[in-house]
Amino acid sequence: MASCIFDSGFNVLEEGLTVRDAIDKIIIEHQLKDLTDAFHVADLGALVDQHLRWQRALPRVKPFYAVKCNSSKPVVQILAQMGMGFDCASKNEIALIRDIGVAAERIIYANPCKESSHIKYAASRGVQTMTYDNEDELPKVAKNHPAAKMVLRIAADDLKSSFPLGEKFGAPMNECKILMESAKALNMDIIGVSFHVGSGCTDPNAFTQAIAEARLVIDMGIDLGFHMNLLDIGGGFPGADHILFEEMAAVINRALDIYFPDESQVQIIAEPGTYYVATAFTLAVNIIGRKIVKNEQLCSDDEEAENEKIIMYYLNDGNFGTLLDFDCNLKPLLCKKHCPDQQLYNSRVWGPTTNNRDHISDQWKLPELEIGDWLIFENIGAYSISLSSNFSGFHCAPIRYVMGNVTWKTFQKIKDECQAGGEGQEDTV
Ligand SMILES: Cc1ncc(COP(=O)(O)O)c(C=O)c1O
Repeated sequence: MASCIFDSGFNVLEEGLTVRDAIDKIIIEHQLKDLTDAFHVADLGALVDQHLRWQRALPRVKPFYAVKCNSSKPVVQILAQMGMGFDCASKNEIALIRDIGVAAERIIYANPCKESSHIKYAASRGVQTMTYDNEDELPKVAKNHPAAKMVLRIAADDLKSSFPLGEKFGAPMNECKILMESAKALNMDIIGVSFHVGSGCTDPNAFTQAIAEARLVIDMGIDLGFHMNLLDIGGGFPGADHILFEEMAAVINRALDIYFPDESQVQIIAEPGTYYVATAFTLAVNIIGRKIVKNEQLCSDDEEAENEKIIMYYLNDGNFGTLLDFDCNLKPLLCKKHCPDQQLYNSRVWGPTTNNRDHISDQWKLPELEIGDWLIFENIGAYSISLSSNFSGFHCAPIRYVMGNVTWKTFQKIKDECQAGGEGQEDTV
């Protein structure tokens, strides 16, 4: 147990053991004790792997992990020790990250519409960099945090992303000048521009366009007398699916070289959330209930009716727990071995609450499963445990943290290098 540097502790897996082995072992332990509780296994090594991949693919872009995506303490602690920055969206996120010893300079308060008391709190914890995209935000910040360094969030094309954010945030190009003039009139400092192409972005060119527009806005700021030295390219990077991260990175690098070459002296940061944590978490759930629905129209032929039946399954995690918003990307793995030629049935899968919206999927064809069988959902680290509620008395499934033996050694090397370079954790203010 390598618990010395983490409050929560985690297990370093024995040589040759995989995360799936760890899950199978926990399931066997559960079965021996007649337990059916759902659980997550978080592979902290996935964070290390993703970080190395990021550094290789986007060497000019410093990641500020979006805490909202998954704020579990071991996750942010591992990332902090690898020298990451953090994107915080609220007072509590700032508290979490400052309390684990991350210096205020490594935090961007990236929420364009902030509550006054949260702005005041950011000031009290030394966090200065924060985003805005509208005129009404400025007097609030001027009053509660006059030393704040503002970053203007501009609108970006998010049409090809799974979770667009543009309807809520981002200033249109034709408002940017006035938004900067208003800041100037209030004696406020603007240091850069940010954007977000939407989570689950499938079109790397959305970054190219936004980077080009950011250049125009940064030049506008320079003309107005601001010292513009920050470009924040937001989130939207893929976690486990559709588009290859490296392809996206190549497009981004090309755009940065054109619009923000090294000589421009603009620091480039990003706010990846999904990219870092999606693959790190795996959920094991138990089938706690089942209902077989016969297709009434086919009852003339017994065999056909049998083949066409729909099986409803009730799991002990669902939309009010950690499985919200995953419908199209989610596919369970079965724990029990099934022969490949086994009959598959249409299934309707529900979470454990009595609410109709706790409906996980109708998309899966599954062999006939039984109460007590286990299903595994991979790649569910992003917007899962952070969205989990206690609705109807159900709680977030517990998390067991692990890291592979080899990755553990790699992590320690990165951590030591960061500390030597002054980028590790620092004393809390
Ligand atoms: C301001 C901001 N930054 C970063 C993120 C993280 O985005 P992603 O999970 O796509 O990396 C979000 C997600 O909502 C966000 O709103």
